[in-house]
Amino acid sequence: MLRTHNCGELRKTDVKSSVILSGWAHKIRDKGKVIWIDIRDRYGITQLIFEEEFSGKNTFELAKKCGREYVIKIQGEVSERLSKNPNMDTGDIEIKVFEIKYLNKSDIPPFTIEDETDGGEDLRMKYRYLDLRRSPLQKNIKLRHSLMQETRNYLNSKKFLEIETPVLIKSTPEGARDFVVPSRMNLGEFYALPQSPQTFKQLLMVSGFDKYYQLVKCFRDEDLRADRQPEFTQIDCEMSFVDREDVLENFGGLITYLFKKILEKDLGEIPIIEYNDSIKYYGSDKPDLRFGMKFHDITSIVQGKGFKVFDDSQVVLSINVKGCSNYSRKQIDELTEFVKTPQIGSKGLVYIKNNEDGTLKSSVDKFYSSEDLKVISNENNSNPSDLILILAGEKKQTFSAMSSLRLLMGDKLNLRDPEIFNPVWVVNFPLVSWDEESKRYHAMHHPFTSPIEDDIDLINSSPEKVRANAYDLVINGVEIGGGSIRIHDRVLQEKVFEILGFTKEEANNQFGFLLNAFKYGTPPHGGIAFGFDRLCALFGGKESIRDFIAFPKNTSGRDVMINSPSQIDNDQLKELGL
Ligand code: AMO
Repeated sequence: MLRTHNCGELRKTDVKSSVILSGWAHKIRDKGKVIWIDIRDRYGITQLIFEEEFSGKNTFELAKKCGREYVIKIQGEVSERLSKNPNMDTGDIEIKVFEIKYLNKSDIPPFTIEDETDGGEDLRMKYRYLDLRRSPLQKNIKLRHSLMQETRNYLNSKKFLEIETPVLIKSTPEGARDFVVPSRMNLGEFYALPQSPQTFKQLLMVSGFDKYYQLVKCFRDEDLRADRQPEFTQIDCEMSFVDREDVLENFGGLITYLFKKILEKDLGEIPIIEYNDSIKYYGSDKPDLRFGMKFHDITSIVQGKGFKVFDDSQVVLSINVKGCSNYSRKQIDELTEFVKTPQIGSKGLVYIKNNEDGTLKSSVDKFYSSEDLKVISNENNSNPSDLILILAGEKKQTFSAMSSLRLLMGDKLNLRDPEIFNPVWVVNFPLVSWDEESKRYHAMHHPFTSPIEDDIDLINSSPEKVRANAYDLVINGVEIGGGSIRIHDRVLQEKVFEILGFTKEEANNQFGFLLNAFKYGTPPHGGIAFGFDRLCALFGGKESIRDFIAFPKNTSGRDVMINSPSQIDNDQLKELGL
């Protein structure tokens, strides 16, 4: 027998029991006559004690020679500890060991297997299997498992069917590049890995499956960030005979269920914000609603007073930052440097200090009288001891810059507590956006998204004004999921392809199968996909999704452990006709 118990389960009530444990030698303390070894497995850590008197000479000698991360099996008796450790689940007991066996020795690991390790990122990625032994990562992977199971529980209880869709497919347009796979049997031709199962889940609706989901790997060849991996997992869902409200209720329900079940948190009713308002007030379609600090458009108030910077700007925006009127010159300079970095791209920062005594002091006093400043202050609902920050410039850049500044101030004031969750549905995105580079319209969500019925008349004359029946779920400024009500009418789908610059032939080549399917009685349908890795990171209170994926890629898209991507040999290339 290799174990009677795991390393996390023995308690005071087990004292005097004879037990066998197996696991890794986590920590070893050799005090000469007494040796303590902490034995570790996925369930926890138990302290072992060895003394020559009760362990016997052989066992004591073996314990002395035991190295870190050796895999050992021990037999002994549970005894109550003299000095208990309240921070350990098993902290009341230790095992008096009579027999130890090395099941496997270990080289000295390249970094310590501790909660706080001395290993750098690159080293840990190379030895990911060792990094995964560390308790924070074990915790993350367990959290992922629980989220996965609870997702299935919820959706199964609502009569959703889990259906797999193929991985070797044809390009699906989700806005990134495809990963492609050459076909040996069809030389010169390629499969694409799915950016999402979008078209397949729609076809499943045509087939009458009505409620579908899949925990599915998606592949996107795009630049990587903390919340992006080239292969990632979606909770992909689709339903027939639904409108937007049905979808939001069902999947808002899923997220609320997960928060309750896993974190014991009540999310409450998830509010809805229009895309236009989200941009207007937060400069982003991913607003972090854990704090206010809404934007105020003060363009018309500040222009025409002789300050050229404002007069020449398309827009002038302000935010009111509570309690920061005492910011020093240095602190303001730091903020100015921040908005002037190339990523933010503003030319400068104007401020108005609403002093504690109620007087107003600005960095542009030359152009604005105290009455003018009062008007701006009122517009911002500013109170004594607040600080008003103002950015001006080209519209899109200024909204985006103010969004970054708002988030920075949120961070500085500790308003972005990872234990607080503020979800919001962002709805009614524009259907298309103009891309200056390719000189054509791009689908904001994807080409299968239905326009809002009231706007369909505008589709020929001003497509950019047409709103899409699309929605994103944003939590704490992170896009957790996105979806839409789909087009189920062939003629409308052809029209949208046309607006997106596809010729009839191109549309048929790429999506003929879908257009064809639409001939045979397609039900109205809609759905959503959640970024499962992002959901895990959010639940785990972290920004990087990598810590929640067992074997992730690094920022260059490499798996440094298996050294992939890598070259393939000439024979293989030849066979593939490459
Ligand atoms: P979308 O492209 O918005 O929609 O993707 C859905 C969600 O997937 C997550 N996500 C990612 N997570 C990690 N790494 C990535 N590279 C990555 N890209 C996206 C995000 C995102 O909200 N087929 C549609 C859904 C639908 O319309 O039903 C789709 O894929 O959290």
